[in-house]
Amino acid sequence: MSRDLTHDLMPQTDHDGMSRRLAVLALKRAVGGVLQPALMKSYETNVKPRTEERLGRPVKHAEDFRNELKDTPQYRLWSSVNRAAQHRMWTMLSNQIDADYDRIEEASQALPGNASLVEPVDFSAPGYIAQADIHCQPGGYLLDRFDGDLGAGLLYEMGGNIYAMGQNIGAKDSKAQRIINFICEEFPGLKPRKVLELGCSAGAQTTYYPEAFPSAEIHAVDVSPAMLRYAKKRSDTLGANIQFQLADAGDLPYADNEFDLIVSHNMLHETEASHQRVIMRECERVLAPGGLCLHQDVAVQLDMLPPFIQFLSEWQKENNGEPFWLDYASANVPELLVKSGFGRDHVKAHYLDQLDGPLKWYVVTAQKP
Ligand SMILES: C[S@@+](CC[C@H](N)C(=O)[O-])C[C@H]1O[C@@H](n2cnc3c(N)ncnc32)[C@H](O)[C@@H]1O
Repeated sequence: MSRDLTHDLMPQTDHDGMSRRLAVLALKRAVGGVLQPALMKSYETNVKPRTEERLGRPVKHAEDFRNELKDTPQYRLWSSVNRAAQHRMWTMLSNQIDADYDRIEEASQALPGNASLVEPVDFSAPGYIAQADIHCQPGGYLLDRFDGDLGAGLLYEMGGNIYAMGQNIGAKDSKAQRIINFICEEFPGLKPRKVLELGCSAGAQTTYYPEAFPSAEIHAVDVSPAMLRYAKKRSDTLGANIQFQLADAGDLPYADNEFDLIVSHNMLHETEASHQRVIMRECERVLAPGGLCLHQDVAVQLDMLPPFIQFLSEWQKENNGEPFWLDYASANVPELLVKSGFGRDHVKAHYLDQLDGPLKWYVVTAQKP
């Protein structure tokens, strides 16, 4: 179940449609492989030396050179093509989903259905979630055009794969599988009876957990009804037995000490700073003694980033619909967990290589003795 997984709900297309997908992917790879190195060269050979001469000291932060780098042709080209590629990707995928929607709808209704979905009627998502069309995805996580719409989840799953492959992440990559391998190596004694994923979105990571822990109950929450609707159908397609629930990770509908394993994949960079604290407190509350809580996300901690990469992080916030990217990049996740009641000696940060890709993941684990 890696990034090359296909299933019945994914939009099918013809030869021309495949060419359009490959064209977007090629554009994204050109941004990362040609335009970004050119931008970096312009920074290293011109902007950085000039800034250091002006300041009389080495460059320390992106703010030292931000305006000057933004004024270069290399930045304008990289930034505009990067934005255009992202918008082109969503338009192309929206068209392909719409063109095949009747078949997708029919396939989704024919499913036997092992997974379940609980949606409390009085639920309201935290306000920050509607603040932006995240990743410039049309309608963001809450896109819900008509009764039963599966569009948000389809867009998210398809777009996520193209986005990752555009960063030269391989088809065999998987966040959840990387984390499951890590848990089995580092915490071999952990045999979870109940697992909870926070911020599951389309459920693309969740479906790894029943396979890894076949005797465990697998639960997953998200604040987007549209994403969960798709996640349930997707799990049904793959025969995965998962209990999805519409819930805020900062206000979980579970008893104290209920789960032996709590995970999140790429959720924290989508949460407002004040809410990160609330989520950590809930993790501490619902984690059982002897259990493990693990948050995996992008490795963009500002205190360890070279200034040029800090600049790229700022770009994500300003141009790629990532309003909380810098909240996350400047957060001290281990400290948040300690303040939520986990013992300092039981909290640890790790940098893990991707399973099939050039990047690292930032992973923070917290154990409850
Ligand atoms: C980038 S997606 C990650 C999806 C999935 N975990 C993956 O890696 O494929 C982040 C998800 O977190 C969800 N989210 C954000 N804040 C949340 C909260 N307070 N409680 C539950 N889910 C939340 C969003 O709705 C979104 O679906």
